Amino acid sequence: MDAPRNEDPTAPRPAADSRVSLAILTVPGQANPFGTLHGGVMLRMADECGAVAALRHVGRGQVTTAAMDSMTFLSPVYVGERVEIVAEVTHAGRTSIETRIEIYAEALHHPGRRKVGSGYALYVALDDEGKRPHEVPPLLSTTEADRLRDEAARDRQAVRLARREEARRHDREFL
Ligand SMILES: CC(C)(COP(=O)(O)OP(=O)(O)OC[C@H]1O[C@@H](n2cnc3c(N)ncnc32)[C@H](O)[C@@H]1OP(=O)(O)O)[C@@H](O)C(=O)NCCC(=O)NCCS
Repeated sequence: MDAPRNEDPTAPRPAADSRVSLAILTVPGQANPFGTLHGGVMLRMADECGAVAALRHVGRGQVTTAAMDSMTFLSPVYVGERVEIVAEVTHAGRTSIETRIEIYAEALHHPGRRKVGSGYALYVALDDEGKRPHEVPPLLSTTEADRLRDEAARDRQAVRLARREEARRHDREFL
């Protein structure tokens, strides 16, 4: 039986506790005219899976997507294939949670999944009214691998915040 979860919102939580996957069998309505899956279908699944991992880490309330970045598609997915998305929290800030998201595909007549996509998404925890950002538990960091993970996440977050500034600036330039 699993150990009872520590519900103290200030207690660091292990990344592995947030790990989650979801899978679908792809159908023609999800494909483009060439028979391969729309990138948008995978992005939606990736966002949903990443959000569930973030919610598992936070343990209550709501999360909203602040940024999806670096989603790289490595090979096409064909109609009828099984697509599986796996997500896990890779960083927790004050109110933000970063998740790594991996996408796999598997032809039903050739068991054995291949990696078709990989990326990160950044979620923000919101209060019970779904309005203001809300503090999240820290991510447990004990090993050298955890330290490297944290450092890489901080670098990615700096890039995202620079992009947010750029997006705000562009908005002003167009008006
Ligand atoms: C995400 C949102 C709630 C942030 O609100 P805000 O008032 O800008 O809040 P803050 O600036 O205090 O940011 C809160 C946290 O999110 C982070 N953050 C916000 N926008 C970010 C972005 N674009 N990239 C990276 N981090 C971001 C901040 O760094 C901060 O992190 P921290 O608390 O861990 O240090 C707000 O921008 C929003 O509602 N966006 C729309 C979300 C949405 O509708 N998503 C669905 C897709 S349409």
